[in-house]
Amino acid sequence: MAYIFQKNRNNIDWTQVTDLLNGFGLTDFTPAETKFAFENSAVNVFIVDGEKVIGCGRALSDGISQAAIYNIAVDEAYHRHGLGKQIISLILEETANCNVVLYTHPDTISWYEEQGFRRMKTGMAMYHPSHIEALIKMDFI
Ligand SMILES: CC(C)(COP(=O)(O)OP(=O)(O)OC[C@H]1O[C@@H](n2cnc3c(N)ncnc32)[C@H](O)[C@@H]1OP(=O)(O)O)[C@@H](O)C(=O)NCCC(=O)NCCS
Repeated sequence: MAYIFQKNRNNIDWTQVTDLLNGFGLTDFTPAETKFAFENSAVNVFIVDGEKVIGCGRALSDGISQAAIYNIAVDEAYHRHGLGKQIISLILEETANCNVVLYTHPDTISWYEEQGFRRMKTGMAMYHPSHIEALIKMDFI
Protein backbone atom coordinates (compact mmCIF):
# COMPACT_ATOMS: atom_id res chain seq x y z
CA MET A 1 0.00 0.00 0.00
CA ALA A 2 1.28 3.51 -0.82
CA TYR A 3 1.42 5.62 2.28
CA ILE A 4 2.52 9.23 2.38
CA PHE A 5 5.36 9.94 4.81
CA GLN A 6 5.49 13.64 5.60
CA LYS A 7 7.72 15.79 7.74
CA ASN A 8 5.55 18.87 7.49
CA ARG A 9 2.15 19.69 9.00
CA ASN A 10 0.35 20.39 5.72
CA ASN A 11 -3.29 19.26 5.80
CA ILE A 12 -2.86 17.34 9.03
CA ASP A 13 -6.15 16.58 10.76
CA TRP A 14 -5.34 17.26 14.44
CA THR A 15 -8.40 15.41 15.67
CA GLN A 16 -7.11 12.25 14.00
CA VAL A 17 -3.64 12.70 15.50
CA THR A 18 -5.20 13.34 18.91
CA ASP A 19 -7.42 10.26 18.67
CA LEU A 20 -4.40 8.16 17.69
CA LEU A 21 -2.31 9.37 20.64
CA ASN A 22 -5.08 9.48 23.24
CA GLY A 23 -6.28 6.04 22.10
CA PHE A 24 -2.98 4.56 23.29
CA GLY A 25 -2.95 6.71 26.44
CA LEU A 26 0.15 8.54 25.21
CA THR A 27 -1.48 11.95 25.70
CA ASP A 28 -4.69 13.44 27.03
CA PHE A 29 -4.52 16.40 24.67
CA THR A 30 -7.30 18.25 22.91
CA PRO A 31 -6.75 18.65 19.14
CA ALA A 32 -5.62 22.25 19.75
CA GLU A 33 -3.06 21.05 22.31
CA THR A 34 -1.83 18.35 19.93
CA LYS A 35 -1.35 20.96 17.21
CA PHE A 36 0.47 23.23 19.67
CA ALA A 37 2.81 20.41 20.77
CA PHE A 38 3.72 19.41 17.20
CA GLU A 39 4.13 23.04 16.09
CA ASN A 40 6.56 23.57 18.94
CA SER A 41 8.59 20.46 18.11
CA ALA A 42 11.55 20.74 15.75
CA VAL A 43 10.75 17.48 14.00
CA ASN A 44 7.35 16.18 12.96
CA VAL A 45 6.60 12.94 11.14
CA PHE A 46 3.19 11.74 9.95
CA ILE A 47 2.11 8.74 7.91
CA VAL A 48 -1.08 9.27 5.95
CA ASP A 49 -3.16 6.61 4.21
CA GLY A 50 -5.63 8.40 1.93
CA GLU A 51 -7.42 10.84 4.23
CA LYS A 52 -6.34 9.17 7.44
CA VAL A 53 -3.38 9.84 9.70
CA ILE A 54 -2.20 6.34 10.65
CA GLY A 55 1.12 7.18 12.29
CA CYS A 56 2.95 10.05 13.94
CA GLY A 57 5.95 11.07 15.95
CA ARG A 58 7.77 14.20 17.00
CA ALA A 59 11.05 15.32 18.49
CA LEU A 60 12.17 18.36 20.43
CA SER A 61 15.64 19.39 19.33
CA ASP A 62 18.21 22.17 19.52
CA GLY A 63 19.15 21.16 15.96
CA ILE A 64 22.81 20.71 16.78
CA SER A 65 23.46 18.18 19.53
CA GLN A 66 20.42 17.13 21.56
CA ALA A 67 16.96 15.80 20.80
CA ALA A 68 14.09 14.04 22.57
CA ILE A 69 11.48 11.83 20.93
CA TYR A 70 7.79 11.84 21.92
CA ASN A 71 4.37 10.66 20.75
CA ILE A 72 5.33 7.73 18.54
CA ALA A 73 2.20 5.86 17.47
CA VAL A 74 0.90 3.73 14.64
CA ASP A 75 -2.79 2.89 14.20
CA GLU A 76 -3.35 -0.65 15.47
CA ALA A 77 -4.69 -1.84 12.09
CA TYR A 78 -1.30 -1.01 10.58
CA HIS A 79 1.00 -2.52 13.19
CA ARG A 80 3.92 -4.78 12.27
CA HIS A 81 4.39 -3.40 8.76
CA GLY A 82 7.57 -1.56 9.64
CA LEU A 83 5.81 1.81 9.90
CA GLY A 84 6.83 2.54 13.48
CA LYS A 85 10.46 1.90 12.60
CA GLN A 86 10.14 4.21 9.60
CA ILE A 87 8.81 7.01 11.82
CA ILE A 88 11.85 6.62 14.08
CA SER A 89 14.19 6.48 11.10
CA LEU A 90 12.71 9.68 9.60
CA ILE A 91 13.08 11.46 12.95
CA LEU A 92 16.70 10.28 13.24
CA GLU A 93 17.39 11.64 9.73
CA GLU A 94 16.43 15.09 11.04
CA THR A 95 18.45 14.76 14.25
CA ALA A 96 21.54 13.23 12.65
CA ASN A 97 24.11 15.09 14.78
CA CYS A 98 22.26 14.64 18.03
CA ASN A 99 22.13 12.43 21.07
CA VAL A 100 18.49 11.38 21.03
CA VAL A 101 16.71 10.49 24.26
CA LEU A 102 13.26 9.13 25.01
CA TYR A 103 11.33 7.37 27.71
CA THR A 104 8.80 4.71 26.91
CA HIS A 105 6.45 2.04 28.20
CA PRO A 106 8.13 -1.12 29.57
CA ASP A 107 6.53 -3.10 26.70
CA THR A 108 8.31 -1.07 24.02
CA ILE A 109 11.82 -0.97 25.51
CA SER A 110 12.96 -3.92 23.40
CA TRP A 111 11.43 -2.37 20.28
CA TYR A 112 13.62 0.72 20.76
CA GLU A 113 16.64 -1.43 21.66
CA GLU A 114 16.26 -3.27 18.34
CA GLN A 115 16.66 0.10 16.65
CA GLY A 116 19.88 0.95 18.46
CA PHE A 117 18.64 2.84 21.52
CA ARG A 118 20.46 2.02 24.77
CA ARG A 119 19.27 2.06 28.36
CA MET A 120 20.71 5.07 30.22
CA LYS A 121 22.65 4.63 33.45
CA THR A 122 22.20 8.19 34.59
CA GLY A 123 19.09 9.44 32.80
CA MET A 124 16.86 11.39 35.18
CA ALA A 125 13.58 13.22 34.92
CA MET A 126 11.57 15.73 36.94
CA TYR A 127 8.02 14.59 36.23
CA HIS A 128 5.14 16.99 36.48
CA PRO A 129 3.12 16.24 39.64
CA SER A 130 -0.07 15.85 37.61
CA HIS A 131 1.50 13.00 35.57
CA ILE A 132 3.17 11.02 38.33
CA GLU A 133 0.19 8.85 39.29
CA ALA A 134 -0.42 7.77 35.67
CA LEU A 135 3.29 7.13 35.11
CA ILE A 136 3.45 4.88 38.18
CA LYS A 137 0.28 3.05 37.07
CA MET A 138 1.81 2.38 33.64
CA ASP A 139 5.04 1.16 35.29
CA PHE A 140 7.14 3.94 33.76
CA ILE A 141 8.56 4.91 37.15
C1 LIG B 1 5.36 0.67 19.16
C2 LIG B 1 4.70 0.88 17.80
C3 LIG B 1 4.89 2.31 17.36
C4 LIG B 1 5.35 -0.08 16.81
O1 LIG B 1 4.83 0.21 15.54
P1 LIG B 1 4.81 -0.90 14.37
O2 LIG B 1 4.60 -0.15 13.10
O3 LIG B 1 3.86 -1.98 14.70
O4 LIG B 1 6.28 -1.47 14.50
P2 LIG B 1 7.19 -1.95 13.28
O5 LIG B 1 6.32 -2.70 12.34
O6 LIG B 1 8.01 -0.86 12.77
O7 LIG B 1 8.16 -2.94 14.02
C5 LIG B 1 7.69 -4.22 14.15
C6 LIG B 1 8.74 -5.07 14.73
O8 LIG B 1 8.90 -4.73 16.08
C7 LIG B 1 8.41 -5.80 16.88
N1 LIG B 1 7.53 -5.17 17.85
C8 LIG B 1 6.37 -4.54 17.63
N2 LIG B 1 5.88 -4.07 18.81
C9 LIG B 1 6.79 -4.42 19.75
C10 LIG B 1 6.87 -4.24 21.14
N3 LIG B 1 5.90 -3.61 21.81
N4 LIG B 1 7.95 -4.71 21.80
C11 LIG B 1 8.94 -5.35 21.14
N5 LIG B 1 8.91 -5.57 19.80
C12 LIG B 1 7.84 -5.12 19.13
C13 LIG B 1 7.66 -6.73 16.02
O9 LIG B 1 7.86 -8.07 16.44
C14 LIG B 1 8.26 -6.50 14.66
O10 LIG B 1 9.40 -7.30 14.48
P3 LIG B 1 9.44 -8.16 13.14
O11 LIG B 1 9.39 -7.16 12.01
O12 LIG B 1 10.71 -8.89 13.27
O13 LIG B 1 8.21 -9.01 13.22
C15 LIG B 1 3.20 0.52 17.84
O14 LIG B 1 3.06 -0.77 18.42
C16 LIG B 1 2.36 1.50 18.62
O15 LIG B 1 1.88 2.49 18.08
N6 LIG B 1 2.13 1.19 19.90
C17 LIG B 1 1.27 2.02 20.76
C18 LIG B 1 1.93 3.33 21.11
C19 LIG B 1 3.29 3.12 21.73
O16 LIG B 1 3.49 2.24 22.57
N7 LIG B 1 4.24 3.94 21.30
C20 LIG B 1 5.62 3.85 21.73
C21 LIG B 1 5.80 4.36 23.09
S1 LIG B 1 6.06 6.10 23.11
